[in-house]
Amino acid sequence: MLAHCLGKNRSYLYAWGDQQLDSTVCAKFETLIEKHLSDYPIAYLLGSQGFWSLDLKVTEDVLIPRPETELLVELALDKIKHLRSPSILDLGTGSGAIALALASERSDANIIATDYSAKALAVAKENAQCNGIQNVHFIESNWFDKIKPQVFDIIVSNPPYIPEKDPHLNQSIRYEPRQALVSGKQGLDDIYSILQNALSYLKNNAWILLEHGYDQGESVPNIMKQVGLQEVACIKDYNENNRLSIAKKG
Ligand SMILES: C[S@@+](CC[C@H](N)C(=O)[O-])C[C@H]1O[C@@H](n2cnc3c(N)ncnc32)[C@H](O)[C@@H]1O
Repeated sequence: MLAHCLGKNRSYLYAWGDQQLDSTVCAKFETLIEKHLSDYPIAYLLGSQGFWSLDLKVTEDVLIPRPETELLVELALDKIKHLRSPSILDLGTGSGAIALALASERSDANIIATDYSAKALAVAKENAQCNGIQNVHFIESNWFDKIKPQVFDIIVSNPPYIPEKDPHLNQSIRYEPRQALVSGKQGLDDIYSILQNALSYLKNNAWILLEHGYDQGESVPNIMKQVGLQEVACIKDYNENNRLSIAKKG
């Protein structure tokens, strides 16, 4: 936060540790500390968050991208590694994190990234521009509503998945957009909507990858099986939590 107030990087603080701060910088720094003491996330205070190899702008209109979501990016890249110019759909793109990370690795991919929040899409578009990414097309859509009939090589999503009465919602995530977090009584409403329509938007042998809550490692694979997806599997993150479910259109 101090480096941010000085407009310098972190190594500057180590190199110039004996420098006196002027009163403007001090006041700015103290304001940030006070806000952070009430749990307000540092990423919002600084206005940016690193994700994959990218530096992304974040505002209160978007979820702060989480390191756990990099696992989804890693797996998606693996599933499309044999394809030339793969078509990718990222549902609920927020800051653009997943779509832009995939685009940064696969400049040959054709990527559609959607969100129903126009404000989130504005941030995502800015992030595409700042990172020089041109192969992501953004669409404002309630899940598949505005996506023209077509089939993709892979669908990825980190949808809202927190149950509406989850006590975690009173912690620091209370500053993040509720519509990015909460999804009905059991946190499964959006995952259900996505999975109900997924088959019509997947090519044969194409995959869908969904991030979900650590305690949804049975329910999400079950819904995947119910809607007719195959080769369903749940994958643990590096903390050994059930974080992702994947499935294939047979
Ligand atoms: C958990 S956030 C994920 C954001 C980003 N993909 C990431 O991983 O950092 C879920 C996103 O889904 C969007 N969303 C929620 N409901 C939606 C809906 N019905 N249709 C499209 N997007 C939706 C939210 O606006 C939010 O940006």
